[in-house]
Amino acid sequence: MPEQTQKGSDRQKELYASGMRGELPIVPADHEKLKKLAKDRSTPEAYDYIAGGAGREDTMRQNRLGFGQWSIMPRMLNDVSKANTKIRLFGQQLPSPILLAPIGALELMHKRADLAVAEAAKNTGVPMIFSNQASVSMESCARIMEGSPRWFQLYWSKSDELVESLVKRAEASGCAAIVVTLDTTMLGWRPRDLDHAYLPFLHGKGIAQYTSDPVFLRLVNEDEDKKTEKGSGITPTAIQSAFRLARRFPGGFMSNLSSGKPIKAVRKFIDIYSRPSLTWENLSFLRELTQLPILLKGILHPEDAAKALDYGVNGLIVSNHGGRQIDSAVSSMQALPGIIKTIDAKIPVILDSGVRSGADVFKAIALGAKAVCIGRPYAYGLGVAGRAGVQAVIENYMADFELTMRLSGCNSVREINRKHLRKAIQL
Ligand SMILES: Cc1cc2nc3c(=O)[nH]c(=O)nc-3n(C[C@H](O)[C@H](O)[C@H](O)COP(=O)(O)O)c2cc1C
Repeated sequence: MPEQTQKGSDRQKELYASGMRGELPIVPADHEKLKKLAKDRSTPEAYDYIAGGAGREDTMRQNRLGFGQWSIMPRMLNDVSKANTKIRLFGQQLPSPILLAPIGALELMHKRADLAVAEAAKNTGVPMIFSNQASVSMESCARIMEGSPRWFQLYWSKSDELVESLVKRAEASGCAAIVVTLDTTMLGWRPRDLDHAYLPFLHGKGIAQYTSDPVFLRLVNEDEDKKTEKGSGITPTAIQSAFRLARRFPGGFMSNLSSGKPIKAVRKFIDIYSRPSLTWENLSFLRELTQLPILLKGILHPEDAAKALDYGVNGLIVSNHGGRQIDSAVSSMQALPGIIKTIDAKIPVILDSGVRSGADVFKAIALGAKAVCIGRPYAYGLGVAGRAGVQAVIENYMADFELTMRLSGCNSVREINRKHLRKAIQL
């Protein structure tokens, strides 16, 4: 892992110095400008899939308000000349308490998708959590991340055999933890996507972990004989989709087209990608399958956090999926204190959803989170400038956090605590 690539103040100096040469930053440091630029460079369907949320997007707003509830109380004259932002998590040293949240269908933002993100993660030392809905297989990403931390996020399929295969592949790919996402046993009601009548997976986007999986491919083959095609309305758009899918699916284009396998794979994926019947009891299956730390993503209620402890889980990610699942679900920052209290430092708790600045990272840590996940911002960076865009976004967050930490009088992440926060004045 690279030493902390750039100290916060070095990055700041570098950005100002580039202005002296007449160069502007590759991505804006301002989140709204970054988002706008990503929008300008994407199709409406792609942008809305990334930017949108469930229902009226109240939870997305609540996520921001959750951070706005707190102000930072800095301390002075505390020699912060030798501060560092490193943390240890599940035995690995990380340069900063920041991880990249699992984001599916990244090819909507850039053709190199997860590969570009993996390179940026490697260059900064920040862990990438491979999405179960990735556009590139975990093996391909892991190959370019040799020596760098990566985790795997699992959607618990209806097929236990597929779950086992994905987890074994994650182990073989050097993933250091398995994140089970619990809040997506079905897709949330997302008006932006519904109004475009657009779901990337149906276009073969974001299903690379499946089409690269031997168990999944076997299940598709087994289905072939049983199913007859009916009522699939042949329109010019349907033909275009069939061609696109045939091009994306592993194997030859012509044989894919004539066998109809890619379409069958998409159907199979829709059929089995998640298991709404999942319960706490299923976790023992995963526990027996792997020695890797298991984290649950999507926990919001303290009683669920208590149950996670009972079931021997190794970590939690407090998250509402960036407001994409239940509209009006509680904000993750509102949920965090109750969970921290219940967990009582027995396992690490990571905060996800709505992190948009170094101050947000600081506040989550002050409330007791061990680290945070960054989501949409790096996807926007990808849309704006590929690998370099993702890397610039990560470096900006690391720098912003480091400067916030030092300016608040802290020399290390460990020194940040609840005493550094006050309730904010509400406007
Ligand atoms: C386009 C998109 C795709 C996502 N795909 C996944 C996924 O495959 N698995 C998962 O656990 N979470 C997924 N998430 C949720 C993120 O991991 C994370 O919880 C969320 O982005 C955090 O909210 P924020 O982006 O507002 O910070 C996705 C989020 C977005 C925006």
